[in-house]
Amino acid sequence: MAKLYLVGTGPGSSDYLTKAAIKAAESVDVLVGSQRALDLFPGYTGDTLILRARNMDEMMKKSVFLVDEGKNVAILSTGDPGFSGVLKPILRLRDDLDIEVVPGISSLQLAAARLQLPWDEINLLTLHGKGNSSRILEFLGNRKPTMVLPDFRVEKLAQFLLEKGIDPERKVAVCERLSYPDERVFKGRLEEVADLKFSYLCVMVVYSE
Ligand SMILES: C[S@@+](CC[C@H](N)C(=O)[O-])C[C@H]1O[C@@H](n2cnc3c(N)ncnc32)[C@H](O)[C@@H]1O
Repeated sequence: MAKLYLVGTGPGSSDYLTKAAIKAAESVDVLVGSQRALDLFPGYTGDTLILRARNMDEMMKKSVFLVDEGKNVAILSTGDPGFSGVLKPILRLRDDLDIEVVPGISSLQLAAARLQLPWDEINLLTLHGKGNSSRILEFLGNRKPTMVLPDFRVEKLAQFLLEKGIDPERKVAVCERLSYPDERVFKGRLEEVADLKFSYLCVMVVYSE
């Protein structure tokens, strides 16, 4: 039976790509991923399918179809496939495939490292692709730091939290473009984030009150 690998590629730089990821990716007939992820595997010589935000569902279905046809396929997932990655949509699509998850270093882990933040007792959530949901408000009062993947724009999330009555002075950190040469770590107050511009690749930490 052919296999579907879900391969974590880390936050972006090849410095954080594991040997296990390279081994799995280079073993398959078809490699599926964003151009940014595919570029991490210059030694791969098989077929590729390019993932874009607009063709996600189609590419997931196509990957499953190819496995059914007997091809070994790997889908590349930024960071770790299990956190806001491809694992959930693939399991929703089919739970009877031979799947191997190859873990990757998540952007959350690298953010925790950059901020020297132990992350065994923090709130973790993703709003990626979900809008600025009030779900985050439940977490902000429980005296633990909250690490969140914003829904694309971190400044919009900060504006949303201010509108919902979170203290403008609340301490926050934004880790932007982690592992890339232009990586930036901003530490300041919530109201400052609302007025700044960041790239879409950001992890935000809202510290406890
Ligand atoms: C679809 S989620 C994937 C998360 C991924 N599975 C992980 O474990 O990091 C994409 C979001 O992850 C965050 N992200 C991914 N790579 C990042 C990086 N290099 N620096 C900062 N944030 C990053 C951003 O919030 C981005 O919008």
